[in-house]
Amino acid sequence: MCGIVGAVARQGAVLQDLVEGLRKLEYRGYDSCGVAVADGAEIAIRRKVGRLTELEALLADGALASARAGIGHTRWATHGKPSDENAHPHSDGSGRMALVHNGIIENYLELRRELQAEGRKFSSETDTEVLSHLVGRELARGLSLADAGRAALSRVHGYYAIAVMAVGKTFELVAARQGPPLVVAATADAAWCASDVLALLPHTRDVIYIEDGDVAELSPGKVVLSRVDGSPVSRPVRHIDWDEEAASKRGFPHFMLKEIFEQPDVLARTAFDRILQLEGDVAFEGDGWDDAGLKRLERLQVVACGTALHAGYITKYLVESLARLPVDVDFASEFRYRGPVLVANTAVLAISQSGETADTLAAMRLARELGCRPVSICNVKGSTVVRESEAVILTHAGPEIGVASTKAFVAQVIAGFMLAVRLGRARGVLAVDDGRRLLDELRCLRPRLEGLLTEKTLSAVRRIAEKHVKAKGFFFLGRGVNFPVALEGALKLKEISYVHAEGYAAGEMKHGPIALIEPGMPIVVINSPGKVAEKVRSNIEQVKARGGHVIAIGADRESLALADDAIEVPDTIEWLSPVLNVVPLQLFAYHHALLRGCDIDKPRNLAKSVTVE
Ligand code: AGP
Repeated sequence: MCGIVGAVARQGAVLQDLVEGLRKLEYRGYDSCGVAVADGAEIAIRRKVGRLTELEALLADGALASARAGIGHTRWATHGKPSDENAHPHSDGSGRMALVHNGIIENYLELRRELQAEGRKFSSETDTEVLSHLVGRELARGLSLADAGRAALSRVHGYYAIAVMAVGKTFELVAARQGPPLVVAATADAAWCASDVLALLPHTRDVIYIEDGDVAELSPGKVVLSRVDGSPVSRPVRHIDWDEEAASKRGFPHFMLKEIFEQPDVLARTAFDRILQLEGDVAFEGDGWDDAGLKRLERLQVVACGTALHAGYITKYLVESLARLPVDVDFASEFRYRGPVLVANTAVLAISQSGETADTLAAMRLARELGCRPVSICNVKGSTVVRESEAVILTHAGPEIGVASTKAFVAQVIAGFMLAVRLGRARGVLAVDDGRRLLDELRCLRPRLEGLLTEKTLSAVRRIAEKHVKAKGFFFLGRGVNFPVALEGALKLKEISYVHAEGYAAGEMKHGPIALIEPGMPIVVINSPGKVAEKVRSNIEQVKARGGHVIAIGADRESLALADDAIEVPDTIEWLSPVLNVVPLQLFAYHHALLRGCDIDKPRNLAKSVTVE
């Protein structure tokens, strides 16, 4: 939701490190940003509504350039509109402390009233400023910053990842988390904290993902970990093998386009080392995917959000068809509050690119409390979802920076396909030969995916995007394993073009939504050869009969011939067709957004990882 960063150095300035760290974190939120640095006995704060460039202009006078310690924040507003006053860092007004926060303090109004009653003055509408005053009050009582932080956090209900600094007898920098992610690291002469490891990679690859309830005291060369109750704790140091370049644009105009073009490599990295061709099976790393563990399963409960949820729906079709295991799929945000009734021997499958989505985490924890075995498909090795799973299928999509998820979705679908094969083989419902055939098709997918990422597809997509650039709204229709692809195509268009688009089960249109179709309305229909292809062709006829303008996507040639516009996709087995069919939809959303002058990588109102409710 927001990005926080902190640094303290024995010598040498940290301001540029803070700014560069915020640049790496801007994808998490970008409606305002700011820094606070220790400037001798005082703390200097600079903050500004708008993007990082606005803050850099504020810092251009060089007044803070030599500071050796500081914190920074880039915001996705939850409480209080984007403004200079609501931008972080916040303080208690004493000039001796500052704090940045990612998360939500649910009881901030009650605490604000308590603090105002003591005469404390507030200058923002944020929940975060309450925390600043709570910490400031404890500092004024003579507590160390770590103890002041613990005392303050003990009053808070909600989610937080914070970095707080104080000047006095000595300089102190403390970080703490309960919910949103936080990574810390120390080198010989410095120490850092950040919401995402990307901000630390320029300094070190050896980092510590702190856990919920941890408090980290940072000083040059040292990180001391403890719990909120003060008891000491230790966490493993993890070596990150991502390279900086992998997180850069590599010459593409936008991260989203780069990540779409990375998909063939993502397929290879996520699948190929796991295929056991001779056995017609797959092997996942770590425990928990063996026959014995999987045979006992009677149900799979998927919880996820957004694009990851669409991959979850596809996984349902695959697992039920190939492994004959019942699968339920829920919006994580709905699962949490609907009082779910689960049967014994159910595994909860959390699907998440970031591994930090608050709703998905909470749903996974609830399912575990209800007796489910927590497993996951995730793209970030050290993330909370991964650390709270008994078994994980890591996707190897690499860092996904574009807010609109593309390569992570393809990786999640591939992981879901492999999970279906593993479950089918473990449960004895998928024969070796069938397994071999399915995995052969998976291997052959890469050249087909590459064959889609060509000028031929791009020019077809551009032509169609131009034709419909003024459309008021779109339908995306699909059936079976391509119904979730319709949902995903609609979400991609919505979130980066800000155009209304609705994904719908093609067979459902006649039960009401077809009334919306006006002459010329663009209707994207996804269809591939398979058991529902004929039904989808009928749906195309129904839409055309009402004047809809049909854009067919897929390998079903009759559908392509029926349509007003068409983008042909290479053929593959029905179960893998979503991996190919989604690509023209991703490119269509990209080009539509480009034509509409939208910010592709940082769409309005969104953030890459929604770490609050
Ligand atoms: C997808 O393009 C969106 N950015 C969003 O729906 C995202 O998929 C969702 O917030 C889930 O994120 P996660 O995969 O990191 O859990």
